[in-house]
Amino acid sequence: MIISGKELANKLKSQMAEFVATLPEKYGRVPHLVVILVGDDPASQTYVKNKGLAAERIGMKSSTIRLAASTTEEELLALIASLNEDDTVDGILVQLPVPKHISEQKVLDAIDKSKDVDGFHPMNMAELWRHKYALVSDNDSYDEMSAFTLPCTPKGCIKMLKAAGVELQGKHAVVLGRSNIVGLPMSKLLLNENATVTICHSGTRNLAAITRSADIIIAAIGKPKFLTSDMVSPGAVVIDVGINRDEEGKLCGDVDFASVEPLCSVISPVPGGVGPMTITCLMENTIEAFLRRMAH
Ligand code: GUN
Repeated sequence: MIISGKELANKLKSQMAEFVATLPEKYGRVPHLVVILVGDDPASQTYVKNKGLAAERIGMKSSTIRLAASTTEEELLALIASLNEDDTVDGILVQLPVPKHISEQKVLDAIDKSKDVDGFHPMNMAELWRHKYALVSDNDSYDEMSAFTLPCTPKGCIKMLKAAGVELQGKHAVVLGRSNIVGLPMSKLLLNENATVTICHSGTRNLAAITRSADIIIAAIGKPKFLTSDMVSPGAVVIDVGINRDEEGKLCGDVDFASVEPLCSVISPVPGGVGPMTITCLMENTIEAFLRRMAH
């Protein structure tokens, strides 16, 4: 089965639009997301545009701040400080990567943790690692949301797996990649679902033997068509987090979809898989940040 992240994302976004429409009556306004892009990386420009459009489509307020690549770290930190203070702003996202002369760590540390809709603030990261059980709810009500923010891409992957009816309990999940954005938080969310998790990376030996023993493979290494059919056992579930360009410049994932798909019980495509779910979870995180702020 090919699981459409796009369809699931559209369903969740229309539910969110209905919910957002009820907010002005209760709170006097809608959630407000501010996205900051430093520099002119073409892929980042597309992601940022899509985030702004998604926010507007579900009826939220969205602001995009585009800064020159020459922006200094001090200028960016001053902007973040002013947005932290601004009571009309619920979510702040700085699109990564930032230019080399700016410290990514300082930037992520500077965003108020209650407005950190990416879940990249050290306190949000720490909260994820100290909670032992599932944090991604099985339904999409805001009554049982977690008290802190979960990173969008791993959260979206778990939602896709659950929507596809994939049992995670006791399964061997192999995560390819150990980034702070995807690989590490993904592994923790899978552990919380009681999967047995192996994290693989560029230094892993006998990688194909490990992936062949997987019930579930999450590919998040950023190498086009890296996961090939000889690395996948029949019946496996494969989630492709990669967004790459192939030799012909066509969008492709970390999975060689054409050869791997026939083997899988469930597989997510690129495009139309994880990408739309990441954006949807960002919208959800912004609503959650708004609700938590309103509750204070
Ligand atoms: N760059 C690639 N993925 C992400 C993400 O999820 N959030 C941010 N802020 N930047 C990214």
